[in-house]
Amino acid sequence: MKIIIRDSAAEASAAVADMLLQQIGEKPDSVLGLPTGGTPLAVYARLRSAYDSGRGSYKSITTFNLDEYLGLSADDPASYAYYMRENLFVHVDIDPDRTHIPNGSAPDADAEAKRYEALITACGGIDLMLLGLGRNAHIGFNEPGSAHNSRTRRVALNASTIAANAAYFAPNAEQPAHAITMGIGTILECRRIVVLATGSEKAAAVAASVKGPSADIVPGSALIRHPNTTFVLDKAAARDLERARTSELQV
Ligand code: GLP
Repeated sequence: MKIIIRDSAAEASAAVADMLLQQIGEKPDSVLGLPTGGTPLAVYARLRSAYDSGRGSYKSITTFNLDEYLGLSADDPASYAYYMRENLFVHVDIDPDRTHIPNGSAPDADAEAKRYEALITACGGIDLMLLGLGRNAHIGFNEPGSAHNSRTRRVALNASTIAANAAYFAPNAEQPAHAITMGIGTILECRRIVVLATGSEKAAAVAASVKGPSADIVPGSALIRHPNTTFVLDKAAARDLERARTSELQV
């Protein structure tokens, strides 16, 4: 595991955007795994402005998003499908047919989860998965207690996650309590994983994920077992890593 620490969230986001641009530059038909949430917004903003200045082509890229709320259509402004269109897809030359997000309005969530897994396999697996980290160390919507070999599936969201994400919903909108998420086992099969975490509210989750022990109660700690994972942090999110072995740090 590599850990990169930058002074600010903006610098950490810039480092992640550069990793993505390097990936698609080196392998123009890369398969990318993408997250939503507040954290990656600055990464997507940098990818948009890089694209506007002629850096990065998405023509042959395939994407798989991590998760989607159940019960929201792709046109719902709180859906992750909407988020991805607004924040990245409509701004770059990506083929919409190669952008994949679990269908939150599928009538049979279990069948949709199976379809999604099969599609990832059919596309040759994911080259680079970008992850955010929940305050409770969830990855995707794999809440604490999720098995580290779990597959893409329907999950119930924790009350703390629902509260943390309430800000992304309109005041009177009904907030889903379930989602489809890639499983932790599915995530661990990605060839390279980059985790972006910024802000002091993520410090405890970062420390538990990086220092271990690797346990189901800390979903992020599953990444300890992955051979090619990089955590990109700002100083605030790295605050509780002081006692981490300095040999692990690439500052
Ligand atoms: C959501 C998403 C996660 C994301 C997490 C952190 O629950 N399902 O994929 O990483 O929230 O979100 P934020 O970046 O807004 O803190």
